[in-house]
Amino acid sequence: MLLCGIFGCISSCAPRVIADGLKRLEYRGYDSVGVAFISGGKLVLEKDKGMIDPFVRRLGLSNMSAGIEIGIGHTRWATHGAPCKENAHPHLDCTGTIAVAHNGVLENFLEIKEALIKRGHRFASTTDTEIIPHLIEEGIQEGLSLKSAAARAAKMIRGSMAIAVLSSAQPGTIVCVKRESPLVIGVGKNGSYCASDIAALMPYTDTILQLEDDQVATITRAGPSIETIDGKPVKPKFTKVRWDAGMAERGGYPHFMLKEMHEQPIALRDTLKLPSAFLERASRMMEGRVYLTGSGTSYHACLASSYAFSKLFCMDIRPVYSSEFQDLLCDLRGNTVIGVSQSGETADTLGALRHAKSKGARVIGITNTLSSSITALSDTYICTQGGPEIGVAATKTFLTQLVAMDQLMLHAASVANKLPEGVCSKLFEQLNGVPSLVERVIGQLDAVRPIAQKYFSRRSAYFLARGINVATAMEGALKLKELSYMHAEGYPAGESKHGPISLVEDGFLCVFIAPNDSSRGRIIGNMMEMKARGAKIFAVITEGDKELKLIADDTFEVPPVPEFLNPVVYTVPLQAFAYHVAVLRGLDPDKPRNLAKSVTVM
Ligand code: F6R
Repeated sequence: MLLCGIFGCISSCAPRVIADGLKRLEYRGYDSVGVAFISGGKLVLEKDKGMIDPFVRRLGLSNMSAGIEIGIGHTRWATHGAPCKENAHPHLDCTGTIAVAHNGVLENFLEIKEALIKRGHRFASTTDTEIIPHLIEEGIQEGLSLKSAAARAAKMIRGSMAIAVLSSAQPGTIVCVKRESPLVIGVGKNGSYCASDIAALMPYTDTILQLEDDQVATITRAGPSIETIDGKPVKPKFTKVRWDAGMAERGGYPHFMLKEMHEQPIALRDTLKLPSAFLERASRMMEGRVYLTGSGTSYHACLASSYAFSKLFCMDIRPVYSSEFQDLLCDLRGNTVIGVSQSGETADTLGALRHAKSKGARVIGITNTLSSSITALSDTYICTQGGPEIGVAATKTFLTQLVAMDQLMLHAASVANKLPEGVCSKLFEQLNGVPSLVERVIGQLDAVRPIAQKYFSRRSAYFLARGINVATAMEGALKLKELSYMHAEGYPAGESKHGPISLVEDGFLCVFIAPNDSSRGRIIGNMMEMKARGAKIFAVITEGDKELKLIADDTFEVPPVPEFLNPVVYTVPLQAFAYHVAVLRGLDPDKPRNLAKSVTVM
């Protein structure tokens, strides 16, 4: 889980230390912030919408006097509920004595919330997190310790969580539980700490313990004691970390882009946990003609999804570049336009959606940024769960856009009874398997570097594919071009002979996306045409395809992938290729020239 940051400490001047820790976690989310302390035996809560610096200045957190020695804090990236003061963490129980900061997505929160409301609990926010302090409150009322009540709550909840719990009834203790979302514990000369990543702990200690899934830590000033969620004691295993603060923020990776590529399986898993209520609301709006619109990488996600929708359900869904939208489409009455944008602020995409609305269309937004202009503009939206992406090139957010649209498509198909039940559930099963396939590919990415080493000084490259992988090819070419400044073009392989092949000469690089599917025979034909003119072939192929290994000069093998999911998996080695070529050319892949993360001009 990549969204939100948690920091807790038991040390002197806790408010200042928490303010500093949250600042180091700001890259994980920054739409609202909150802290809870124990002061004079009472729990004190402060939270607000907005970024950390003004919040810290307004409260004077950095200068708060000694005497406050324990607290937890949270910086948020909204996933459930708008970014506002009420939804900022920590959240409290009904008695106002238990505070919880959470990073993760809870799947069954709606049913638990309803049951809690029936039992008389009052809720102050629309977040999923708020069920946790209320469940702990019930445990305490039944006589459980804070630790046991937190463990019992975690057992009742499905979904990902890293939580830090503070209670005025046990004022020297922070209880943490971890499942899927990261949580590290640090012990230093001046106190004990917990945080979402090592970077936040660097100024205070290099002695770190990574909590494992379904473990509960009871942290006091002397350090943590660890148990499993079922109460079995675990011997704490500390390690010494030798990273500097910058490396720690990048999780030990040399660049954010590489870190973000490695986060793709978890970003996909989180996006696959999108509450079905959002998907159903959006899928019920998909009537009339459906258009998909976005810019750059987000357009490639639209293109891939249009192939998937069309192949699986014979639905004619049209992808349109956002910058071209208003010049192409004039009457949109009764139609649906799905706008896709990581940032939610791309001027071209917002322009297309405003135009769509003015011409009578319903608008669905798909974005990674809940508090963005696109969510305000859309009739309904789906929030991908990629977390903040710091590298300028879109990586994990592209993959999450693809699976968000796949989910939407499958929901729409089941709402409209387009597919027999068995087929639909098989497709959902395949979709749920995609994070593991991406994980396997990431495990083999070291094989890409020597290939990049062979080709990094080329002037130009073609990326060629057929069907849904035309989107993969275009995305691979865009990544290479924007990061390495090598000229690259992605287009349908069948188009080569209609012009582009005239550029091909000895040593020209052609990257093929060549899965073992119905297009394979025709792709082999295109490879042969290129080879005959002296091209060098780097092909991304299905594991064990011996024939293509003989034809291509270099290959990267990926496991068999259902066709509609091809771009999710096949894009990953192309991201790695672009990354390595950029690094080998001495460029910083996190900051390509002339580009910005959010393009707010048309
Ligand atoms: C490429 C890239 C850009 C963006 C495009 C749209 O790596 O990042 O092409 O995809 O500027 O941005 P969003 O998705 O924020 O609308």
